[in-house]
Amino acid sequence: MNHRHNKRLSLSVLCFSLFLIGILIYNQGVKSLTEFPFSTRNESPLPEPNVNPGIDDEQPRTESPVDAAAEDDEFPPESCDVFDGNWVFDNYTHPLYKEDECEFLTEQVTCMKNGRQDSMYQNWRWQPKDCDLPKFRAKVLVEKLKNKRLMFVGDSLNRNQWESMVCLVQSVVSSGRKRLDKIGSLSIFRIEEYNATVEFYWAPFIVESNSDDPEMHSILNRIIMPESIDRHGQNWKNVDYLVFNTYIWWMNTINMKVLRGSFDEGATEYEEVERPIAYARVLKTWAEWVDTNVNPNRTMIFFNSMSPIHIKSLDWNNPDGIKCAKETRPILNTSTPPNVGTDRRLFTVATNVTKSMKLHVHFLNITTLSEYRKDAHTSVYTIRQGKLLTAEQKADPIVYADCIHWCLPGLPDTWNEFLYLHIISGS
Ligand SMILES: *[C@@H]1O[C@H](CO)[C@@H](O)[C@H](O)[C@H]1NC(C)=O
Ligand SMILES: *[C@@H]1O[C@H](CO)[C@@H](O)[C@H](O)[C@H]1NC(C)=O
Ligand SMILES: *[C@@H]1O[C@H](CO)[C@@H](O)[C@H](O)[C@H]1NC(C)=O
Ligand SMILES: *[C@@H]1O[C@H](CO)[C@@H](O)[C@H](O)[C@H]1NC(C)=O
Ligand SMILES: *[C@@H]1O[C@H](CO)[C@@H](O)[C@H](O)[C@H]1NC(C)=O
Ligand SMILES: *[C@@H]1O[C@H](CO)[C@@H](O)[C@H](O)[C@H]1NC(C)=O
Repeated sequence: MNHRHNKRLSLSVLCFSLFLIGILIYNQGVKSLTEFPFSTRNESPLPEPNVNPGIDDEQPRTESPVDAAAEDDEFPPESCDVFDGNWVFDNYTHPLYKEDECEFLTEQVTCMKNGRQDSMYQNWRWQPKDCDLPKFRAKVLVEKLKNKRLMFVGDSLNRNQWESMVCLVQSVVSSGRKRLDKIGSLSIFRIEEYNATVEFYWAPFIVESNSDDPEMHSILNRIIMPESIDRHGQNWKNVDYLVFNTYIWWMNTINMKVLRGSFDEGATEYEEVERPIAYARVLKTWAEWVDTNVNPNRTMIFFNSMSPIHIKSLDWNNPDGIKCAKETRPILNTSTPPNVGTDRRLFTVATNVTKSMKLHVHFLNITTLSEYRKDAHTSVYTIRQGKLLTAEQKADPIVYADCIHWCLPGLPDTWNEFLYLHIISGS
């Protein structure tokens, strides 16, 4: 190619790019005008100033929401895919609790307290296409958990969801009758008057790895033992509701390092295995553990699909974005799910494995619906190495924005609405 041709080519590339950017900007403008989805179906009108939030308006209720029974609530038929739907702005029913009313939230997730100015991210309700989610009633859930244990097992995203669940249930427990204990890898929220627990067990790969220390786990050179699960599994026995996940720790290298031998014997050599293959080995180990150790008459099993990240604002056509840091609204065009770089191969593995198990596993398909929520991450309103970001760090989102974890109240509350549905309806 000669020089002049090259020049002409770059000029036309430039023009075409400008043209594209123009279209994008135009589209964004049109989108924000046309697409703001106030609820259109099953909707609550926007609240009168003094209406008690939390009370449904479809039928008048005299009892307080706390005492209300779930019998009045309609549960979606099994045939309804509750994960297929869209986000609806609904500041009447959401958030389900207030940030400053949950003493158990950690600084990692209290975005408003940490300086976030916009709060709309708390007001979105997931609306399935063909049915409605039941209203989340903390009292009903706590009654159901009486003498029972609910445990989240996995990485910091499952811990995010566990924190959300603690906040969702704690409001109906009198103070002094609830507390948080940490014992090694296990964090236990105890609801004493109900003899119930909501627990989180740190195991970012589910199986054994060199990242299992509950405190010191920021390990870059991650190595797993895909066939070793019993040491962790001991802690999951006799639990009534088990919620598993594993994803984000797989994402910092293309291949996964698999240990040759055992950490106990001081082994350090490893082989590199393609990510989906290693993931399949881990989930196969997990599936066998569940099928052999879980009594389906007692225990319900859940598997969360991947929680997505939002680090490239061009993924949602925002050339002015900085990772997720400037996003205040979800992606509202649900005609084609955005491509935010989620490794869908792992999704396929997880659906395959859960489908082929002896035990029925509830697969919580949260990936796509969470991919729309570019607005819901903690961004710079969070901690790093145990400390709140400084003003200078906050001013540097390219380096410091966390576009992995989620503010609370926020998106993980919706994940818990799916759990609620299954736990209360028993299916
Ligand atoms: C998961 O949900 C999305 C919509 O949110 C849907 O497009 C997809 O087919 C679902 N996948 C499975 C395995 O159910
Ligand atoms: C809900 O949002 C609407 C529209 O933005 C606003 O007018 C109203 O004051 C909000 N209500 C509450 C309770 O925040
Ligand atoms: C309390 O809950 C535990 C764990 O679910 C259960 O094993 C125990 O029997 C319960 N205690 C009482 C007094 O019911
Ligand atoms: C579960 O319950 C069924 C029906 O009551 C019973 O046949 C089965 O043996 C039970 N399974 C276990 C593992 O206890
Ligand atoms: C929604 O996204 C699709 C695919 O990206 C696009 O074809 C469509 O025009 C968009 N709709 C609106 C209203 O922007
Ligand atoms: C999933 O299962 C299908 C059908 O059994 C198989 O063809 C496919 O290779 C599996 N995919 C993965 C990633 O395991």
